[in-house]
Amino acid sequence: MRATTGLNHEQPRGNIRYSGLVRSSQNGVHPRLDDYVRRHLDTFWGQPLHGPSVAAYQELLATGCLCADRPFVLDSGCGTGSSTQILAQSYPQQLIIGVDRSQDRLSRTANLGDQSGNKNYRLVRADLSTFWRLLLRDGHVPTRHFIFYPNPWPKPGHLLRRWHAHPVFPQLVALGGRMEMRTNWGIYADEFARAVSLATAETIRAQRFSPASVVSPFEQKYRERGHALFSVVVSEKITSSFQQCWSQADTVGTKERI
Ligand SMILES: C[S@@+](CC[C@H](N)C(=O)[O-])C[C@H]1O[C@@H](n2cnc3c(N)ncnc32)[C@H](O)[C@@H]1O
Repeated sequence: MRATTGLNHEQPRGNIRYSGLVRSSQNGVHPRLDDYVRRHLDTFWGQPLHGPSVAAYQELLATGCLCADRPFVLDSGCGTGSSTQILAQSYPQQLIIGVDRSQDRLSRTANLGDQSGNKNYRLVRADLSTFWRLLLRDGHVPTRHFIFYPNPWPKPGHLLRRWHAHPVFPQLVALGGRMEMRTNWGIYADEFARAVSLATAETIRAQRFSPASVVSPFEQKYRERGHALFSVVVSEKITSSFQQCWSQADTVGTKERI
């Protein structure tokens, strides 16, 4: 397998500081990535929604957190929610919605309490593949969508579990807003960028970056260990243009089917 971009994925080995580095037998973009992405783009994914996640979403609607005139930022896979709290300080005029499926992780933040006094965030326990579809169905577009350090699923056989090869991927991009994904695995970043490029017909590239300040526990851990960090940023213009094309191509009607 060959890498398709010029990113250097070399990372130091053999030192405890570098534990947590992603180890994979892949040494470049997965050779089947394009096939899967194209298939997902051509096929509607109609898996039943996850009931408890629908209930969590409905609670956000019922409490007025999600409504037409309230801008929001999405922190997908927020873990303990500490990134959600940091974003709440960075975007004080917006509601930050942190979503994670792990009650264990989310409850760690509840125990920390809200030291900032800032109440412009909500932590929600939900499965993202349901939550994203509901947001898209109802036209709730985040201004910014962060996916910090998603599970890498490094085994080649687990490609379909990575967000860019998951059947929900077209709906993730169609959700809209400025999307930013961060990872410490350069191949994941390359694959994510390639999948977005295939979907949108725009040239999207992964970038190495060095955060001025740390936004999440995983970012902190990786930075302390000296890992290279990568991000893929997709502008709001590109996601919104994809949303229009994707909804028009969806001739059977997304709303009836979700
Ligand atoms: C590697 S952790 C990163 C956590 C946090 N973003 C950070 O940077 O510290 C990935 C998180 O994604 C969550 N996650 C993975 N798949 C998910 C899904 N389908 N729905 C919701 N959360 C999910 C996991 O529970 C986990 O908390």
